[in-house]
Amino acid sequence: MMNCAVFASGGGSNFQSLLDRKLAGDLHVNFALFLGNNSKAAAFDRARKHGIPAVHCAPSHFAGEQEYAAHLLALLNEHAVELIILAGYMKKIPVSVVTSFKHRIVNIHPALLPAFGGAGLYGEKVHQAVLNYGAKVSGVTVHFVDEEYDHGPVILQDTVQVFDSDDVRTLARRVLVLEHASYWKAVEAIAQNRITVKGRNVYGYV
Ligand code: GRF
Repeated sequence: MMNCAVFASGGGSNFQSLLDRKLAGDLHVNFALFLGNNSKAAAFDRARKHGIPAVHCAPSHFAGEQEYAAHLLALLNEHAVELIILAGYMKKIPVSVVTSFKHRIVNIHPALLPAFGGAGLYGEKVHQAVLNYGAKVSGVTVHFVDEEYDHGPVILQDTVQVFDSDDVRTLARRVLVLEHASYWKAVEAIAQNRITVKGRNVYGYV
């Protein structure tokens, strides 16, 4: 089974959805490491409850990006991590880690990229931007991580309708349900080696 690390900053409901899918026998990966930058995050409890090694690590703990990146790479190496799953992780992954893990870091974004993504568009801000724009659909994007925010090759996208009656809270909730239904499928496709990447194009996701 593929050794995965999950990085999360907050509640980690996406992390929980992956743990649930593994327990249900749908997702065939080994959660080898959990990494969080906020020691109070609920995601830490989820990791501990499942016996997953949990590490508190934040860029501010280090003198600079180089030291931070070296520490991350050592940790990933120590736990033999093959795939990094970002699940609401709010810190930028250092370029040297992105380079070392090319097409081996995935992220989920709560909108249809390339719209409503990029630096500064996270959390409720994403859904507010969708509503302000008047878009009629939103959704989720699972993508590989490259050097730019919310930019790497798209693995899967799925849509929800935006209703006239929506506010940030109702739209966020509808999208989050879809995130939980979708993320594990992309991870499983990678874990089963069904995915190939050519430039921006990802093939093989089912
Ligand atoms: C999700 O909306 C995800 O798309 C985004 O951050 C949020 C994390 O939520 N990247 P949770 O911590 O998994 O509940």
